[in-house]
Formats: sequence, C-alpha cells, structure tokens
Amino acid sequence: MKKITIAIDGYSSTGKSTVAKQLADSLGYVYVDSGAMYRAVTLFALENNIISENYFDEEKLLKSLPEIHLEFRKKNPLERADIYLNGKNVEKDIRTMHVSEFVSPIAAVHEVRVKLVAQQKMMGAAKGVVMDGRDIGTVVFPDAELKIFMNASSRQRAQRRFLELYSRGEEVQFDDVLKNIEARDHIDTTRSDSPLVKAQDAIEVDNSEMNLDDQFHTVLQLAKDRIAGR
Ligand code: DC
Repeated sequence: MKKITIAIDGYSSTGKSTVAKQLADSLGYVYVDSGAMYRAVTLFALENNIISENYFDEEKLLKSLPEIHLEFRKKNPLERADIYLNGKNVEKDIRTMHVSEFVSPIAAVHEVRVKLVAQQKMMGAAKGVVMDGRDIGTVVFPDAELKIFMNASSRQRAQRRFLELYSRGEEVQFDDVLKNIEARDHIDTTRSDSPLVKAQDAIEVDNSEMNLDDQFHTVLQLAKDRIAGR
C-alpha cells in the first residue's frame, strides 16, 4: 500500500502526540515526536549552564551544538522509541515543567532549528511517518500528503497538561501550567524563525469538545482518504 507523510502541528498540549501515536500504530508507520528533540536540547542547555532564570548564553549554545547528539532508540521492537541525548535515555527528564519553562527560547534559536530540521527530514525520507510539532507541515515536510493542525482552548489544554503532570507525581499549580501554556503559545507563534502557523493546506481539528475516540477516528479517516489518493 502507498505510504504517505503525515504532519501534525498545533499549539502546546492539544493532544498532537496522542493522536499521532494512535495513527502511527494503526497504519504501521513510524512516529516521531519533534518536540522531544527541542526538549532534549533544552535539557542539555540546563545541565551545562547555558540557560537559567537569569541568563541565556546563546554563544555557548551555538558552540556546543556539534556536541549534542540526539537519537530515537527502542528498548525492544514492540516498544515505542525513547529519545537519547548523547547516549543517555532522557525520555522522562525532558517532560518536566522545568524543561517546559525554558524550551521556547531554545527552540527560537535559528541554528538549533537548522540542526534539528535536517535530522527530522532524514527520519521522514522513507515516508510512512507521522511527525508532530510546530513547523512540520510548513518547514520540515511542506510536501506532506496530509497536514493536520490541532487546536483547543488554552484552559482546556492547561487542564489536560495539569492532569498529565499531576499523574506523574509533579506538584504543580493549575495557574502556573496555564501561564506556561500561554507563554509558550506567545513565543512559538511570534518567533521570527518558523513560527507556529497553520499551513495553507492543513486541515484544522479543534478537539476542545471531542473525546479521544472521536478525534482518532476523524484523523484516521483523513489519513485513509489520502492513502487512497482522495
Ligand atoms: O510538542 P512539545 O510541547 O513537547 O514541544 C516543546 C516545545 O518545542 C514547544 O514549546 C515548541 C518547540 N517545538 C518547536 O519549536 N518545533 C517543533 N517542531 C516542535 C516543538
């Protein structure tokens, strides 16, 4: 059967990764979480005194870029791939609120984007891939056969993110999660390099009022249509 490229973009915590994983599993495609790559670079920057509350040493980040090696590896063939930063599995470490607070300024750096976009393009070269992020349909795979743009209200998104962090045992306040989501929306949509915008040919899915099942079936149908050339 013909393999296509599926780009899923949208605001933070719109459930992009949930639907992207379901879609990849159901079609037998590879799933790539591009946000994990920006998060891993951010973790590197935090661990190497490149960024903190008080400073951002962009020059040091640029010098360090060649030393940052990112890789997706599976522990076994049936499991989903985890992200590795310089040989270490950082899948859990990159999902904290602390990393979320610093990721947008790191993701706004042109050289960081050039490096990660090149790696993402290679990962999708063979098609049969579902990649989620902010610039997948606009920059990484402008020729993707299917582009989805996910949206939901910021309160709804903050609520989902809060429950996710809470269930992982992180002690967070709802208002801080909402502020982080709104701050990231602002930086992600206003940065000069590859701002988050809906690609002209993307299909918008607002899931504020959808349950996971409805959302999955809506997107799966769109994918089946594109695979069939409709
Ligand atoms: O999808 P996520 O929330 O894990 O992404 C973390 C951050 O990375 C997000 O605030 C913006 C940035 N990002 C990006 O700039 N481009 C992408 N393709 C994916 C994520």
